[in-house]
Amino acid sequence: MLKKYTGLFISVFFLVFFMTGTVAAQNKYMGADKCKMCHKKPSQGEQYKIWKNSAHARAYETLGTAKAKKYAVERGIDDPQKSDKCLKCHVTAYNVDKKYLGKKYKKTDGVACESCHGAGEKYYKKKTMKKLFAKKIKPESVGLTIPDEKVCLRCHNNESPGFKGFDYKKYYEKIKHPIPDKKKK
Ligand code: HEC
Ligand code: HEC
Ligand code: HEC
Ligand code: HEC
Repeated sequence: MLKKYTGLFISVFFLVFFMTGTVAAQNKYMGADKCKMCHKKPSQGEQYKIWKNSAHARAYETLGTAKAKKYAVERGIDDPQKSDKCLKCHVTAYNVDKKYLGKKYKKTDGVACESCHGAGEKYYKKKTMKKLFAKKIKPESVGLTIPDEKVCLRCHNNESPGFKGFDYKKYYEKIKHPIPDKKKK
């Protein structure tokens, strides 16, 4: 009896493990320039421009500043732009195998769209995006995240050398990029 259940638990465990593992790993990161094609016009909400003008777009560059070098020295790190200890929060797709990086992916884009919305391979096509917007398919079924505070807290936490605290409402106001109301149903 016990043996039978143990076997069942093990197979369920592996099934779940492989399913979630492969779904998450297989999606390619398309790069912010891919999203730009359809998210740049004022009528669409110019998400690209808003992001480009935000601190997130400069996150990789920041690792090259004197302040970054100071943080690095204090931690025995040679080059912050090469250290996993800094890149993990300052670039998109940190530690992801190269074969999952699309042609337009650039680490110099820093914390780009897909850092918060998830790798775009399965949702970036217009047909899929429209279905998502019309709520005909669920975001998670194509790897799209509609981010909430939890997503921010992956990086906005006290593991960050210059952590200033995090107030979701205040911080969200500084990065928000909504679709204009007239498009919403
Ligand atoms: C081929 C065009 C196209 C591309 C490329 C594209 N999108 Fe979209 N996206 C749309 C359209 C169309 C909508 C529906 C809203 C609208 O009409 O503006 C949309 C909606 C969205 C939404 C809202 C979904 C919802 O359910 O409310 C998010 C988030 C989004 N896109 C993120 C991205 C990200 C991130 C990328 C890049 C990985 C991307 N999009 C690439 C066309 C595109
Ligand atoms: C992948 C990591 C990551 C995620 C996820 C993330 N951020 Fe950030 N955020 C950063 C980094 C790194 C900086 C600093 C960039 C710089 O100054 O170069 C930053 C800076 C900011 C700033 C500017 C702060 C200032 O002092 O000017 C705001 C506002 C912000 N983030 C809001 C958010 C919100 C809201 C979310 C969630 C919806 C979020 N962030 C998710 C990494 C992240
Ligand atoms: C856990 C995620 C995380 C890690 C790891 C991280 N950072 Fe950051 N970094 C952030 C966030 C988030 C901000 C935005 C500051 C804020 O609002 O709290 C930031 C801001 C900065 C800034 C902007 C100026 C300042 O002091 O706030 C510098 C410089 C910086 N980080 C350097 C580094 C260096 C160098 C490393 C590696 C030793 C590193 N960061 C590791 C998340 C991280
Ligand atoms: C720091 C995290 C972060 C980054 C980077 C980011 N977004 Fe978003 N995005 C959000 C959050 C948070 C929302 C609001 C989710 C909600 O509706 O509650 C959002 C919403 C959206 C929406 C839907 C707006 C609506 O009104 O329904 C679109 C479209 C979108 N993002 C596209 C993009 C594109 C394109 C980029 C890159 C150019 C990008 N985002 C970069 C966090 C981010």
